[in-house]
Amino acid sequence: MQRLYRKRIVLGVGGGIAAYKSAELVRRLRDQGAEVRVVMTQGGREFITPLTLQALSGHPVHLDLLDPAAEAAMGHIELARWADLVLIAPATADVMARLAQGVANDLLTTLVLATDAQIALAPAMNQAMWRDSATQVNADLLRSRGMHLFGPAAGSQACGDVGPGRMLEADELAQLAADCFQFKSLTGQHVLITAGPTQENIDPVRYITNHSSGKMGFALAEAAAEAGARVTLVTGPVHLPTPDRVSRVDVVSARDMLAACEAAMPADILIAAAAVADYRPEVVAEQKMKKDPTTGDGLLLQLVRNPDILATLAQRSDRPFSVGFAAETENLLQYAARKLKDKNLDLIVANDVANPSIGFNSEENAITVIDRELHESSFAQTSKGKIARQLIAFIAERRQQH
Ligand SMILES: Cc1cc2nc3c(=O)[nH]c(=O)nc-3n(C[C@H](O)[C@H](O)[C@H](O)COP(=O)(O)O)c2cc1C
Repeated sequence: MQRLYRKRIVLGVGGGIAAYKSAELVRRLRDQGAEVRVVMTQGGREFITPLTLQALSGHPVHLDLLDPAAEAAMGHIELARWADLVLIAPATADVMARLAQGVANDLLTTLVLATDAQIALAPAMNQAMWRDSATQVNADLLRSRGMHLFGPAAGSQACGDVGPGRMLEADELAQLAADCFQFKSLTGQHVLITAGPTQENIDPVRYITNHSSGKMGFALAEAAAEAGARVTLVTGPVHLPTPDRVSRVDVVSARDMLAACEAAMPADILIAAAAVADYRPEVVAEQKMKKDPTTGDGLLLQLVRNPDILATLAQRSDRPFSVGFAAETENLLQYAARKLKDKNLDLIVANDVANPSIGFNSEENAITVIDRELHESSFAQTSKGKIARQLIAFIAERRQQH
């Protein structure tokens, strides 16, 4: 199993002798399915070449903060937003001191300040440097701010000393990086998630559908599985791989989706992220429809209402904790609040699909969650993967209070 499947990891390489192990680390992270981008400090470049890390990561290495060309490609803020985890290995005494002080005088330290991703450090240094009280105070401070410290191990060192300060091996670091994503807040829960669009046939070759890509629903399924849930993902037609440990049911129309959801019940939590067609053609032509010369240039298509999947499931006696999505192009919060009430939901996630940077098909999202008391909680724009993990943590907490 790839424990870091599609996780985005910025690997920071500092100026320590252990930088030679970073090359192996890039490979181990990628073996686990991670996408890796490397950022090197000035010191790091003295110990291992960017070319090596570029070849192993498959991407150019990021080196300078104040380089206009680099900034125009993937700038420091973009890199900070892209990351799910910033792993600094080796983390030198110098990098740790600068992070402890909030110094932002190179690309790596600036992006650590700018990111809301998890941050992990693999300290590597001479045992006396590690034991020094300045380094110990810095390590405690960084830990207290929520950074993970991986190691260091004790043993014989490159300089001939014996003691604590050796960087952990690449395999161990890759496993610890994967552990950062194992939030088990949904252990033992069955989470039913719908995703993607539905297709409503007009005739054997035509159908009505919408622009939903399914990315948000799939990201939620992945995050729920990571949180320990048993996940059933009922999806309309999309081009996305099935996340690890998720059982997927493919459907086409709204009525198929309802049937698949009913078959998957009971569930503890329902997250309805699919963009279900409200209407379908009343009659599906048995043969391909031809242009009809008697009707002139027009064609009247009679539509009928589809069943409301969310409302149907939220009304059952074994009703799950129900979370809906309101994808709107105007009056977002007002429409979302009305939908919450009308469909008897516990939470509704309001999603502005008029904004091209966060709506259908985009890689990022920004959402507001409204609860039954009409309290609003906002989640700032970031990747759909990160929003999904934040939302799953939020849902797990609310479900517990339920
Ligand atoms: C040969 C050599 C090996 C070094 N190894 C380490 C080390 O393992 N850990 C460390 O914290 N500093 C080590 N240093 C010192 C750092 O390179 C120095 O503090 C540098 O400023 C770190 O820059 P950076 O942390 O921004 O990459 C070493 C220096 C030299 C000359």
